[in-house]
Amino acid sequence: MAKMWAGRFKKEIDERVNDFNSSIRFDQRMYKHDIFGSIAHAMMLGEQGIIPVTEAQKIVAGLEDILEALESGALAIDPSAEDIHMFIEATLTEKLGESGKRLHTARSRNDQVALDLRFYLKDETTELIQLTKSLIHVFCDLAAKHTETVMTGYTHLQRAQPVTFAHHLMAYVQMFLRDISRLEETQNRMDEMPLGSGALAGTTYDIHRQRVAELLGFADITQNSLDGVSDRDFAIELTSDLAILMMHLSRFCEEIILWCSWEFKFIELDDAYATGSSIMPQKKNPDIAELIRGKTGRVIGDLVTLLTMMKGLPLAYNKDMQEDKEAVFDAVDTAKLCLTTLAPMVETMTVLKENMRQAAAKGFINATDCADYLVKKGMAFRDAYQITGKLVALCIEKNTTLEALDLASYQALSDLFSEDIYQAIDLVTCVNERKVAGGPAKSAVEQQIKVALEKI
Ligand code: ARG
Repeated sequence: MAKMWAGRFKKEIDERVNDFNSSIRFDQRMYKHDIFGSIAHAMMLGEQGIIPVTEAQKIVAGLEDILEALESGALAIDPSAEDIHMFIEATLTEKLGESGKRLHTARSRNDQVALDLRFYLKDETTELIQLTKSLIHVFCDLAAKHTETVMTGYTHLQRAQPVTFAHHLMAYVQMFLRDISRLEETQNRMDEMPLGSGALAGTTYDIHRQRVAELLGFADITQNSLDGVSDRDFAIELTSDLAILMMHLSRFCEEIILWCSWEFKFIELDDAYATGSSIMPQKKNPDIAELIRGKTGRVIGDLVTLLTMMKGLPLAYNKDMQEDKEAVFDAVDTAKLCLTTLAPMVETMTVLKENMRQAAAKGFINATDCADYLVKKGMAFRDAYQITGKLVALCIEKNTTLEALDLASYQALSDLFSEDIYQAIDLVTCVNERKVAGGPAKSAVEQQIKVALEKI
C-alpha cells in the first residue's frame, strides 16, 4: 500500500521498518469503531459546510460499504498497511477517488486513535461489567443453596471460626461488586470525545465537536487538545481495574485448588471442567483454576507495561503510545476469558457439605464461642480465654473435641460451666448467633444475597 505521507520522502520505506512500524496486526480489531468515528466526523464536516454535503454523503455510504465488506469477509485487511486508520482511509479513497480524500479534513491520526481506543474500550467495559454481573449471579445462586452449610473460616490457613459456605462465597461477591463499580467509574471518565484535538493543537476549521460526541454517544468532549491526544490514563485505569478483578478471581481459584485436594475435599469439579494427567491415572486436576491464577500475573504485567511505557513521555503524541494496545487488549481478553470460564466451572462443581462439616468439627473453631459463653456468665474475656485455652489443650491431650469433652472436665476449670455449654458450642449455634450485619448467620447472609442482587 502506497504511503499517504510519500510526498515528503525520496525513497520507499524499508520493508522491515514498515513491519516494525505497523500496528495493523493488533489494531484491526478497532475497525468498527474507526468507521463509526469517521462516519460521525464526515457527517459533521458536511453539516458545518466544511466539505459539500453530497461529498459527506458519499463518504458515509462508502464507509458503510467498507464495514459491510469487512464483516462479510468480502474485504480482507491488508497486513502491510500501517494501521487500521490508514487502511480504511486508503480503501475509501480507492473506492471513491476525490471524495475519499476529503475525509481526513480537520482530523489527525492522533485524535483519531485517541477516539478509537476510548470508543472501543468503552464498549469492552460494558461487556466486562455484564460478565462480572453474570458471575455474581452464579455465586449468589450457589450461596442461596448453602446458607446452612457450615464450614471452617481460616486465618493463616489455620482453622479459626465457623462460617458457612454461603458466607464465604458472598465475600467474593462484595469484591466483584467493587470491581464493577471501579469499571463503571473508569467508563465514565473514558466517556470524553477527543476528535478536534487534531495532531495536538486543535484545528482552524469551524468544526462542531459536541455534535460528533452526540453522534457517537459520548457524554462530553475532551477539554484540552494536548491532553486529548496525549494521555492513555483511561487504558491504564481499565487495566488496573482488571488487575484487581483478576487478583480476586485468582484468590478464589487458589481456594478451589486447595478445596479439590484430597487434604480438603470440600468440592469436586465437574469432569467437563477438570483435566487428567498423562501419566498418573488417578489424577483430576483443577487446570482452569490454575490458569486463571496464572493469567493474573499476565494482566498485572500489562498494567506495568502501560505505566512504564507512559511515564517518561513528553507531551503530546509519541509513537511509544502505539504499544498501549497490545497490553490493554490482552488485559481485556484475558479477563473476559477468565470470567466466562470461571462461571460455569463454579456452577457445575459439587459441594461436599459433609466434608466441610467434618473439617469444621475438628479444629476447635468453637473455642471463641466457649470463651464467650463464660463472658456471658460474668467472667472477664482474658480469663475466659485462658480457661478455654486449657480446655483445648486438654482435648488435644485426650484426643477429643470440645463437643465431646465431659462436663466434669469443664467444671474442674470453672464452676460457671453447666449443661448448656454443649448447646453454646454447637457449630450451628455458633454460626447462627453471629447475626451481626455482615456476619455468617443464615439471616445475615440472606440479607447480603438480597442486597447484592438488588445492586446488579
Ligand atoms: N497506529 C498509531 C497508534 O496506534 C496511530 C497514530 C499514529 N500517529 C502518528 N502520528 N504516527 O498510535
